[in-house]
Amino acid sequence: MEKPKFYITTPIYYPSDKLHIGHTYCTVAADTIARYKRLRGYDVFFLTGTDEHGQKIERKAQEAGKTPQEYVDEIVASIKDLWKLMNISYDDFIRTTEERHKKVVQKIFTKLYEQGDIYKSEYEGWYCTPCESFWLDRQLVDGKCPDCGRPVERAREESYFFRLSKYQDALVKYIEEHPDFIVPQSRANEMINNFIKPGLEDVCVSRTTIKWGIPVPFDPKHVIYVWIDALSNYITALGYMSEDDSKFKKYWPADVHLVGKEIVRFHTIIWPAMLMALGLPLPKMVFGHGWLLLEGGKMSKSKGNVVDPVILAQKYGVDSLRYFLLREIPFGADGHFSEDALRTRHNSDLANDLGNLLSRTVAMIEKYFDEIIHLPEAKEDLDNELITLAKEVYEKVCRCLDELQFSNALIEIWKLIARANKYIDETMPWVLGRDKSKYPRLKTVLYNLAEVLRIVAILIEPFMPQTTPKILQQLGISKDENPDITAWESASQFGLIPEGTKVKRGDPIFPRIVEKEENAMEDTNKQEVKNPEGAVPADDKNEEQKEYITIDDFAKIELKVAKVLEAKKIEGADKLLKLIVDLGNEKRQIVAGIAKHYTPDELVGKKIVVVANLKPAKLRGVESQGMLLAASIGDELCLITPEKDIKEGARVK
Ligand code: MSP
Repeated sequence: MEKPKFYITTPIYYPSDKLHIGHTYCTVAADTIARYKRLRGYDVFFLTGTDEHGQKIERKAQEAGKTPQEYVDEIVASIKDLWKLMNISYDDFIRTTEERHKKVVQKIFTKLYEQGDIYKSEYEGWYCTPCESFWLDRQLVDGKCPDCGRPVERAREESYFFRLSKYQDALVKYIEEHPDFIVPQSRANEMINNFIKPGLEDVCVSRTTIKWGIPVPFDPKHVIYVWIDALSNYITALGYMSEDDSKFKKYWPADVHLVGKEIVRFHTIIWPAMLMALGLPLPKMVFGHGWLLLEGGKMSKSKGNVVDPVILAQKYGVDSLRYFLLREIPFGADGHFSEDALRTRHNSDLANDLGNLLSRTVAMIEKYFDEIIHLPEAKEDLDNELITLAKEVYEKVCRCLDELQFSNALIEIWKLIARANKYIDETMPWVLGRDKSKYPRLKTVLYNLAEVLRIVAILIEPFMPQTTPKILQQLGISKDENPDITAWESASQFGLIPEGTKVKRGDPIFPRIVEKEENAMEDTNKQEVKNPEGAVPADDKNEEQKEYITIDDFAKIELKVAKVLEAKKIEGADKLLKLIVDLGNEKRQIVAGIAKHYTPDELVGKKIVVVANLKPAKLRGVESQGMLLAASIGDELCLITPEKDIKEGARVK
């Protein structure tokens, strides 16, 4: 049977500067849908590309001492590298400077001219002589040129116009009859009430003052201006009006044009009118997403508030960044980007919730059953809640993804992850593991956890394509060899992992990212207090690990009472303090990350507890010869001090 078709596009980006996290946001969203549809058996065509003409690029190139073509070639190469890094699975990348595009745009322009939808007239506006630019009333800033701020003169320019006004009624009718054409619905109302109904004016579609563009074929002193050139990419890439238009026949009309909210207007007014004029069907949906904002509003190079996705992807991992972008902000709405929020999501949702669920499950299967997953033998009512949730999540995720509700889809998946972590706390497998007669029950518990992880691995694939194989590999499941239990639809069923599957412990899939000085104490912890199992990231939730510490292990840690003699801030590290402590028979220097909780004055004279036999380490270049003990929860922290006065040097046991 022929596969159903699905055509999705991103906007084509201006290669006037390197792309930022805002552009990455839109492309990652489109990629997630493309991957999801492929997994659901669609024949997907996913298009992205670059919109390379226009005055801005002409100027930028000039400033850089390059030809416009040289200038865009370099930036386009960096954009392609970025999409490779972000695992963007596009099927085609269209550049408006390619012959295949330019030729067809000229044909489209000629056709519209010949049938009377484009006509020549005059365009009246303001001219800035030094900039050689034409401006409209509304583009001026305080009556002056928006680019250079100099005075402008009234002028007329010969231009071609597209007869947009002719399509006004047809557009209103189409939008009203197709409630899914403009999504979210609020944007449809805005288009009709604010733009179309007040009256559409014909739009200027050529310029004589710009050189960097596609020439009007029958009047080459004009270049085709912006929207006819840019919007046509969605059909020129498919070979419309070319010798081979098989892709056009196969994939047009587009199922989804994904665009930022500020260009919804062009995609839902000019573009459909152009298509009507060409006698072509209209796209099924234009989805207008919100903006990623930084302090000072929308990211833009001119505001100097852009965030580089390459740096973030290198630091947190590509999948972590993809997860964050789609989880943090409901798609459609604006949202704020901050690295703190990214780090929190990474550490909490990915390292803790998902990463630990995997490492704990695999470590226990390894420990209790020599790496073998066994079928359930002793079921209990308690299992049903987990299994029911696992069976429901598939439908919910599909529904959310069909509606481009990425954030909600991820929330549903994480409800299952949270439920599985709670199931570990409830079933206490480490207690079952102490008593051989409880092994049938232990097999069931570990099987259920492995199944949840299989389902989660499948469902996160459109969002985090690199993580899925990592999880499946640790579960001992190969996608190639086990298509039945790794296919998308198999996530709707519980209980598919076969008896005897052999897990394979691996590295933590999302290592925690700790800002250097922020958690000096956590860093120090990591140096010596090794997790006895080695593989499970240190996390005080890991009850099953704690029982493995023997009294001999504990005795290796030399804890002593110490008196604080001096405390000082450390320059350039606002969370650290340098203490000199007296251990009874010697003095030590200790660096501790407690500056947010204690002032140096408060500490002097206090008796505290320190790990006296910790290997010295440098924190922010300052040697620390031990570690003090403190209790912390959330943002709170307090030092551990002896309940009664006792001489420094006393051993804590
Ligand atoms: N070239 C036109 C699009 C033509 S489509 C036929 C264009 N290019 S752009 O590079 O300026 O923007 C491309 C897309 O990136 C737009 O959809 C825009 O909304 C999106 N974004 C740019 N900055 C953004 C954020 N800060 N946040 C979210 N999306 C952002 O417009």
